[in-house]
Amino acid sequence: MGRILTVASQKGGVGKTTTALNLGYTLARLGHSVLLVDADPQGGIAIASNLKKKTDVGLVNLLRGEVSAEDVAVTTKDGSMSIVGSGVMTPADTVCIEDAARDGQLQLAIQGICGGYDYVFLDAPAGVGGIVTSLLTVSDGVILMLRCRSLVLKSLPIFLKLLREVRFQHNPALQLEGALVTMWQGDNELERQTLKELAQSVPEALFFRTVIPEDDNFEHASIKAVPVILLPGGRETARPYLELAMELKERELLRGIGGDADEQTDGLF
Ligand SMILES: Nc1ncnc2c1ncn2[C@@H]1O[C@H](COP(=O)(O)OP(=O)(O)OP(=O)(O)O)[C@@H](O)[C@H]1O
Ligand SMILES: [Mg+2]
Repeated sequence: MGRILTVASQKGGVGKTTTALNLGYTLARLGHSVLLVDADPQGGIAIASNLKKKTDVGLVNLLRGEVSAEDVAVTTKDGSMSIVGSGVMTPADTVCIEDAARDGQLQLAIQGICGGYDYVFLDAPAGVGGIVTSLLTVSDGVILMLRCRSLVLKSLPIFLKLLREVRFQHNPALQLEGALVTMWQGDNELERQTLKELAQSVPEALFFRTVIPEDDNFEHASIKAVPVILLPGGRETARPYLELAMELKERELLRGIGGDADEQTDGLF
């Protein structure tokens, strides 16, 4: 059974969709089977990947029984990964997803499409609303996106509280995979100061070592609707996502190996 990871943030526009697309694509190129699910009624992944050129159906049509779980995913042209769009076009569609989150149908629909993949990335809408809560309920882990701006110090505790609530009420196994600093401007004194304050208020292990720098290439890639590595000159920009993929795997490995010390030292054979 693969892992379901929600990419979430308290604030909007901090690189959730970019991370789901670029991290997902990196893991796919490393040989993993990957599904991206656009669970944002604003259609982040669907737009960022040009999915709408190929299909208009998605989660909302699955919820309405207009498409089956087998037929809702679309494979990328290069065959590297699959994507399920939100399928949302009208305000009524948004309400449909929100209602489904409330009555548990969204969770069931997502569980129904996740089988057979090594990694499933759920691209969440910003905030701590009902859809995000539903996504966390069916996830193994969450990647929390942070931009080092002053408000992050206020918003982080709100998100951590939601995680505690979801763990307590619905999903005790939910892991905080890590907080990921993005759009990092290393030469901005205010950002450096904010990161320092963040590091003092939350345990260091909570953060991915990898930081995604601010780079206009991400914007260009969004316009072209491709992972940034596919842009001419995009390889260097994409490198932090390769590092992030490696770090994710390192964390999984270390978690898997942890356990009873006596057992560990008993010999491998
Ligand atoms: N590291 C980066 N440097 C510069 N621009 C970036 C970076 N990451 C993402 N962007 C750009 O910032 C914009 C917002 O990113 P993205 O859509 O991934 O954020 P989001 O958190 O999914 O937003 P929303 O909350 O609206 O869903 C996009 O135009 C994207 O190309
Ligand atoms: Mg988004």
